[in-house]
Amino acid sequence: MVEPVYFSSKEERINWIKHADYNLFKLDSDWVIIDLMTDSGTGAMSEQQWAEVMLGDESYAGSESYYKLARTVEEIMGFPHMVPTHQGRAAENILFSATVKEGDIIPGNAHFDTTKGHIEFRKAHAVDCTIDAAFDTTIEHPFKGNVDLDKLKKILDEHPREKIPFINLTITCNTVGGQPVSLENIKAVKALADDYGIPVYMDIARYAENAYFIKKREAAYKDKSIQEIVHETFACCDTCWMSSKKDGLANMGGLIATKNEELFTTISNLTIIYEGFITYGGMSGRDMGALAVGLREALEFDYLESRVEQVQYLGEKLMEYGVPIQTPVGGHAIFIDALRFFPNVPQAQYPGQLLAVESYIEGGVRGTEIGTLLADRDPATGLDRYPELDTLRFAIPRRVYSRNHMDYVAATMRNVFERRNQYTKGFKIKWQAPILRHFTVKLERNV
Ligand code: F0G
Repeated sequence: MVEPVYFSSKEERINWIKHADYNLFKLDSDWVIIDLMTDSGTGAMSEQQWAEVMLGDESYAGSESYYKLARTVEEIMGFPHMVPTHQGRAAENILFSATVKEGDIIPGNAHFDTTKGHIEFRKAHAVDCTIDAAFDTTIEHPFKGNVDLDKLKKILDEHPREKIPFINLTITCNTVGGQPVSLENIKAVKALADDYGIPVYMDIARYAENAYFIKKREAAYKDKSIQEIVHETFACCDTCWMSSKKDGLANMGGLIATKNEELFTTISNLTIIYEGFITYGGMSGRDMGALAVGLREALEFDYLESRVEQVQYLGEKLMEYGVPIQTPVGGHAIFIDALRFFPNVPQAQYPGQLLAVESYIEGGVRGTEIGTLLADRDPATGLDRYPELDTLRFAIPRRVYSRNHMDYVAATMRNVFERRNQYTKGFKIKWQAPILRHFTVKLERNV
């Protein structure tokens, strides 16, 4: 499928973004030239996936498409129980409704924003135990998504067992740059969790990319297949949830899979309340079929290599131009370090958002801020939290863009970078929602 792209003028973009209250979520997609806002649901499906769409079984109960998906999940991941949901956060809603209560502590590696949102919405606390190296974009570390075992142990020692329903491992770790977690670390987290009798739950939106990095960067696994690495990964996990819009190569969908039969009974009932009957949950039959195919395609080594190499290519081009990015480059996205990019803009004025807006104005390239806006306010004090990483993320949709597009993006960023010292002011907030504010926030320039 091809789609014409309208090349807007800078003047048009200045007007549109002002009209959108400097919130890139409020832009019409027609006003965007290259859309790197997310890699979630924005990939292209294969001919095999489209063929499977034609075979979709839309039966309310016992759909064959559900069984195709359930068999695939069991074969690839080893979970005997699975419910589909309409996307990742719906899976979080159901799973956390079953497991998280007020005052609970959920330690993990840099929880994704919706994960944290669902935890804090239940008046529980997400405690970040990611290694320190993740928060310094200049440090080269092959597995910046790793959990710091001392930090984790401290949390486990400080709180009674019943306050910690699970440990949350996110693979790859989106928030710190799509950074992988090593199998050595995954196994160590599982061993520690076992000592304390606490289950490990994984957020597996990008688990295939994580497996690719393990093969490439962890010596002990270089001769293992992606599927073998995936098996070893899931052997360390009791329950997982997935936004299938990433490594499921689907445009919509999610799932929860578990080895725990009792938990499955509870989440099945919650799925019926919130999503739909167990054998479709939040998905249509045709989409479950396409997802079953996508899950397999996402584990093909050649696909993974071309995917991760494309992201790497953009990262290298940006580094060539001097643009400061999180290194090493992660799996799905480039994270540009806004604090290093705009050293003269105070963090309280949202430098990551400023970078997002300026990149859009310069070249019509839409990324998304992963920084102070996204970190939102501390629920206890109501004041802004200042994350160590304040970034602009360019997430690359799967199987969509070419190398030419990456060159265009890099050239856009070079132009903004060349005038970086002229920027001393960012934005202030005109209006914000009580939770997950970045989606709807209204901003104005701080003049
Ligand atoms: N977990 C991770 C690690 C994610 O990256 C996302 C979504 C979710 C959970 C929630 O899934 O969107 O299907 O409800 N990430 C998208 C992104 C939105 O742009 O990174 P969802």
